[in-house]
Amino acid sequence: MKKILFVTSEVHPLIKTGGLADVSGSLPKALAELGEDIRIILPYYQAIKTNEAIYYKSTIRINDSEINILETQLPGTNVIVWLIDYPKFFKLPGNPYHDATGNAWANSAERFGLFCQAAVEIAMNRGYLDWKPDIVHCNDWQSGLVPALLSLELSRPTTLFTIHNLAYQGVFPKSANFILNLPTQLWESGGTEFHGMLSFLKSGLTYADRINTVSPTYALEIQTAKFGCGLEGLLSYRKDVLSGIINGIDTDHWNPETDPNITANFTYTSLNKKQLNKAALQTKTSLPISDKIPIFGLITRLVEQKGIDLVLNCLPDILKLPVQLVVLGSGNKEFEQQLIDLATANPDKMAVQIGYDEELAHLIEAGLDIFLMPSRYEPCGLNQMYSQLYGTIPLVSKVGGLADTVVDSLPDTLANNTATGIVFDGALAGTLIEAIKRALMLYNQPKAWKQIQINGMQKEFSWTQSAQQYIELYGQL
Ligand code: ADP
Ligand code: GLC
Repeated sequence: MKKILFVTSEVHPLIKTGGLADVSGSLPKALAELGEDIRIILPYYQAIKTNEAIYYKSTIRINDSEINILETQLPGTNVIVWLIDYPKFFKLPGNPYHDATGNAWANSAERFGLFCQAAVEIAMNRGYLDWKPDIVHCNDWQSGLVPALLSLELSRPTTLFTIHNLAYQGVFPKSANFILNLPTQLWESGGTEFHGMLSFLKSGLTYADRINTVSPTYALEIQTAKFGCGLEGLLSYRKDVLSGIINGIDTDHWNPETDPNITANFTYTSLNKKQLNKAALQTKTSLPISDKIPIFGLITRLVEQKGIDLVLNCLPDILKLPVQLVVLGSGNKEFEQQLIDLATANPDKMAVQIGYDEELAHLIEAGLDIFLMPSRYEPCGLNQMYSQLYGTIPLVSKVGGLADTVVDSLPDTLANNTATGIVFDGALAGTLIEAIKRALMLYNQPKAWKQIQINGMQKEFSWTQSAQQYIELYGQL
């Protein structure tokens, strides 16, 4: 059994903006079930929601500020969560990265710098918690200073840094070094410095003992200029300690047989009940009720990564086809407005909900026929896996975790019952609309369609295998 401190900026169901929260909630739970002693550390944001009790544990001092460490449990598990309580930074309306008006926090460096410094104190057993981890498992840039700061400590735990998204780097002016009171020896081109700026992500990638990312394909892609976001040199230099482990999903939470958020539960032997969810989704989104018209949909952060602009570009063509489209998402204001305008102009074909809605997300997964994920890059992606388990055919670009988890419907994969979706090469113009037409052709062959649904619903996406791979990786540290 290993002692693992899991450092993350979001954890479902306490606080979530995207897939990092799903992973931070479900991987520790799976590791705890496999017998690891894993504890999570998270900032105590005002927006955290929990019914579990929260206790005061201790007070530490960082840069002359007093920080309280609180303790709670990951709901429905025995996993301990330590909350870093510093009201001046975290007890404010908004989400982990944006204030209540949607603007990025002006003091992000201070917020996550302090969080990293608190994680180091706990990792070195200086947090009065009487617990010292063997391994500190960091996630994304918000935890990037932890491996750097720990590298200066004697008898430190080993560090693993997981990249969930290389494009978000936490790069700040050099002055952040002074504000955070960072040791000067870290500031060098082979250290925390990135083109004259302080990079949290590069700090993590440089000093971590091991690096992994959330799919084998993305682990290779990020070593190239196309996907490396300027860090491809460092990542190929560290390729011997870099690997990919595909994310699992929480099948307690995402299971069409038991999901309380959907209208009718179903399995691959009662696929006809999926229709009731389609009708409920059409009712809820005020689309005409019909089981003949295929519904496409997306649930996503509305950002370029997700290829939402590609969808917008070909929407006039898509809407000429006999289809319906449901979009749930939030993000870039221009994308939001364009989607609203198109839905207003095409109320019989398209419905858009701007915002974050966990419950609706489940009904959409259950009610759709086809889930669109034309991402430009996708470290792993979770909705293509949820879709497969819910009998919804994912239509995805061939990148990262999408390439690793969806099997294209081709003559051979249809014949041997391994096809689970539609995969297209997103780098080529016009391919999205071609892929959509390909999906429609398949949709009109009910027998083949049903077989693709069944193939996907029978796939194994739970954490069991992936958590085992993390345990092996911890073992190598
Ligand atoms: P990313 O982390 O890049 O946003 P993922 O596919 O890994 O992408 O995970 C996104 C997660 O967030 C999924 O669980 C998805 O259902 C959820 N999600 C995204 N946008 C919304 C939204 N507007 N409402 C509800 N859930 C959302
Ligand atoms: C990131 C990636 C997404 C991945 C998620 C969880 O947000 O964009 O592809 O699934 O992290 O690892």
